Amino acid sequence: MLKDRSKSGVIYFDNAATSFPKPECVTEAVIHYMTKIGANPGRSGHRMAIEAGQIVFKTRKSMTALFKLKNPMRVIFTINATEALNIAIKGVLQKGDHVITSSMEHNSTIRPLHELEREKVITLSIIQTDKTGILNPDEIRKSITIKTKVVVINHASNVLGSIQPIREIGKICKENGVIFIVDCAQTAGVVPIDINLNNIDILAFAGHKGLYGPTGTGGMVIADGFDFNKIKPLKYGGTGSLSDKIDQPNFLPDRFESGTLNVAGLSGLLAGSEYIQNKTGGIEAIFSNKNKLLNYFIKQAERNIQDFISYSSLNVPSIGVVAFKLSNISISETAQFLSDKYGIMCRQGLHCSPLAHQTIGTFPEGTLRFGFSIFNTKEEIDNSVYALKSISEGNEK
Ligand SMILES: Cc1ncc(COP(=O)(O)O)c(C=O)c1O
Repeated sequence: MLKDRSKSGVIYFDNAATSFPKPECVTEAVIHYMTKIGANPGRSGHRMAIEAGQIVFKTRKSMTALFKLKNPMRVIFTINATEALNIAIKGVLQKGDHVITSSMEHNSTIRPLHELEREKVITLSIIQTDKTGILNPDEIRKSITIKTKVVVINHASNVLGSIQPIREIGKICKENGVIFIVDCAQTAGVVPIDINLNNIDILAFAGHKGLYGPTGTGGMVIADGFDFNKIKPLKYGGTGSLSDKIDQPNFLPDRFESGTLNVAGLSGLLAGSEYIQNKTGGIEAIFSNKNKLLNYFIKQAERNIQDFISYSSLNVPSIGVVAFKLSNISISETAQFLSDKYGIMCRQGLHCSPLAHQTIGTFPEGTLRFGFSIFNTKEEIDNSVYALKSISEGNEK
């Protein structure tokens, strides 16, 4: 694995929340924009504004390559995956529509859906996954009715790490004329994703996790053939285009990108995306390395710690995220000892996914979660297994 040059004595395993550290080129790109460019893209015609616009366009092109899209204008930048999911979900659904989703969803999907259900705009079917977090595509097929407008699925669980069979689900959606929305918050930059091959209509991504961009970056990608007029914008406002009109522009990306973009963040996202695509051996290599770390952690912990319980299965495809606990000590105490005594950063609790924890039987306490990044090493895992063993033996009390 790559050497981390910027951490100081900290083991950071909270990469499923946001990745840290970022590659140096990400920080440098943000500083370059902040100190040398600084202007507002797409607004003024001066050199600095044009340079800012070029950064944004290059970032769109980088996302286009990442998701095997054709038209970069179909990449819509948002402040995070949550905003992208809200645009997609609220933008396409109308009164009387039926939606199918899964019990592995993050609250950024479940909450907007639940709100629409509560307001009696939509009806909702939540398909239970098995305990490994995997969905049976046949269950989706069986739940489709003439009212089904959308299937929205989390590509990989942020709790268990398990990856859904989106190719099969996308095929079912296509056969039935159902819009397929995929939450790629955890998988962008970690799993190779081809928007067309998977028949995805709308994809949401986070820029600050597996793409190693700064926080405040993310986006919605609309498939090349998908009629974007079917998506109502969430925000209306200034776009720098058609300024003589009080109507929202009806072309991409302006239809959905009102207000000044986070160009500092996008500069970093561009650097992060180019870094993982060109400097790491590529996404297949990242995927394989994360799975090696995952395997190593679970096996070492199971071998050495009597009270270790993993909820993530090594028998299903994974993004390198593991949910676990020590059966003899609370997860909040474990997380606190890890942070305070060993400098190991992880996330504990429900991970914004209460239904996932209900599915695996860990609600309401939740679990601990380690999410590995391109910078983590086997040595860090050895240290964490040592720390967990010591905590479970009561040495810290
Ligand atoms: C599966 C999943 N979807 C959506 C989100 C929301 O991402 P963001 O924080 O970028 O809005 C997350 C964040 O943890 C996630 O794991």
